[in-house]
Amino acid sequence: MNSRRKVAVVIGTRPEAIKMAPLVLALRKHADKLETITILTAQHRKMADDVLALFGIVPDHDLDIMTHGQSLFQTTARLITRLQEVYVREKPDMVLVQGDTTTTFVGALAAHYLRIPVGHVEAGLRTRDKHNPFPEEMNRRITSCLADLHFPPTDTARDALLAEGVDPATVHVTGNTVIDALFHVLGRKTDQDALLPDGPDPDRRWIVVTSHRRENWGPPLESICEALLELRDKYDDVEVVYPVHPNPRVRETTDILLKGKERITLIEPLDYLRFVHLMNAAHLLITDSGGVQEEAPSLGKPVLVIRRKTERPEAVTAGTVKLVGTEQADIVREASALLDSDSAYQKMTRRHNPYGDGRACPRIVQSILSGWNLEG
Ligand code: UD1
Ligand code: UDP
Repeated sequence: MNSRRKVAVVIGTRPEAIKMAPLVLALRKHADKLETITILTAQHRKMADDVLALFGIVPDHDLDIMTHGQSLFQTTARLITRLQEVYVREKPDMVLVQGDTTTTFVGALAAHYLRIPVGHVEAGLRTRDKHNPFPEEMNRRITSCLADLHFPPTDTARDALLAEGVDPATVHVTGNTVIDALFHVLGRKTDQDALLPDGPDPDRRWIVVTSHRRENWGPPLESICEALLELRDKYDDVEVVYPVHPNPRVRETTDILLKGKERITLIEPLDYLRFVHLMNAAHLLITDSGGVQEEAPSLGKPVLVIRRKTERPEAVTAGTVKLVGTEQADIVREASALLDSDSAYQKMTRRHNPYGDGRACPRIVQSILSGWNLEG
């Protein structure tokens, strides 16, 4: 009789691909006990494909659900029916979802409808504001309600779960798998010059920018763009390098305000390897991304977070990440403080890893194995 258990890893967007890829590789090391299958919903098409290719992962199922400018309703509806089909066919013993996207919560919901146990990677992140970030705060809270195993990255995230009444026996603090992914990529031999995009002047100080959050669409993103223009005007040795998220709601603003402007280099999203090298080459990062907030402290790069609230307080407490909101004046003031003062800058460059040590994936695998009495 085949006593192997089947684990289905569900991946939808770029950050899920980055954070799940090292876990897929770690699960596959236990092929004698675990059969690991990957289900790519392709909520993101190209951006998720690029990551999986980088890690050498070919999905077992590709649901290809992305449409251009998709709404939350379209994504949710397409996901629930397609996931039902593939779960029914594969009959996994456990479904693993990651983070707080629509793929995450629908992946967990569809598993629950079929009474398949759910493991939630990067559990317990909270702002406690249902509209910030939107819709992610509710996606992850709903996922926590549905999950049977919870893998919070930090003690803060674990405490949030316990405060909500989650059974402590089901909660395992592991670190964030993004640090496993980052170390995987940093360990790869690369020609750094070839990796950096054409255009930006290497002798300038680069401000690397990313922004995509729904709550920043429209006026907040406009004021972020105005802040970047003001910083460019104020400092003639500064260049803004901005890989623009392909969401049309983001591009309608960046195209109008930033396209073709001197010392503002707008580029297509970079594959993960090149983006990590871009972060390494940056002087300063300005972002609303969750993943970038987690990676930058490992690289010793100061981060200004253009959001009103963060569910990742650890690096803010450690002093390497600062929450600056989305007002033009606030962004310019905080960036100027770092561009003007070497000592203020140095204080934010301490390398540390509040989010993980690069061993989160083996810890998750061990928890799963021991839950099934398969360790040893
Ligand atoms: C999604 C997640 C968000 C996550 C973010 C990471 C939801 C509701 N949102 O937001 O939590 O932080 O991904 O980036 O789950 N597109 C492409 N090519 C791609 C990817 C996206 O063209 O490879 C465009 C398409 O027009 C697509 C649109 O971006 O319809 C939006 O994608 P979607 O996943 O709905 O939302 P994001 O804003 O990317
Ligand atoms: N990233 C990337 N290429 C880019 C911009 C970002 O590979 O051009 C990586 C980044 O290093 C991080 C992840 O994408 O690991 C973050 O994804 P995103 O900001 O889209 O989502 P979030 O983390 O906010 O959910």
